[in-house]
Amino acid sequence: MKQASDSLPLHSRTPAEWGEDVLADPIALLADHAFLEKKAALNAIQLLERWPKEWLPGWVETMTGVARDEAAHLAQVTRLLIRRGGRLERGHRNPYANALRGLVRKGEVISETLDRLFVSALIEARSCERFAVLASAARDEELAAFYKALFSSELGHFKVFLRLARKIDQSDSVEARWQEMLAAEAEILSRQEPGPRIHSGIGRRITSG
Ligand SMILES: [Fe+2]
Ligand SMILES: [Fe+2]
Repeated sequence: MKQASDSLPLHSRTPAEWGEDVLADPIALLADHAFLEKKAALNAIQLLERWPKEWLPGWVETMTGVARDEAAHLAQVTRLLIRRGGRLERGHRNPYANALRGLVRKGEVISETLDRLFVSALIEARSCERFAVLASAARDEELAAFYKALFSSELGHFKVFLRLARKIDQSDSVEARWQEMLAAEAEILSRQEPGPRIHSGIGRRITSG
């Protein structure tokens, strides 16, 4: 799994210590995680009829498949959370995802859809990378197995979002835009506060070695 995560095109890597730090508060981490799964399901539902221009074979199947997987993840993560004595809170902040959404170019249907697919792919890729770190850091076998299973599922989502992006825009500028977005993602993540969240920043203790 470590190898599979190394092949992700992300521009920064999460150190093992981040996993140990966030797992110190597994309830808070699971509560944050539940909202990410909910948001991922909603995102796929919102994208359902957003294929740009003509009908695109595979679009609807991709979005319904992702929505179904994310709803299943949401059920799994809330089950773990509640069984461990936690609960969902109303409302949730995710400055990382909000900043990524801010990168979407508005107004022109192809570029806007392309950017939305890229943002979705970036969140999947980063979540995937973080789940790999969590799977190796977790001492709790149930959590380790859970993160490992999610890693594979989110990796599949990352790939299908990218595939759709390349289907809707086959121009030469697509690769450059993807590289730009990958660089922006690493920069946005580096600005996040540390804490028990899936997309949190790296604490000072870790960066100062
Ligand atoms: Fe998920
Ligand atoms: Fe996903």
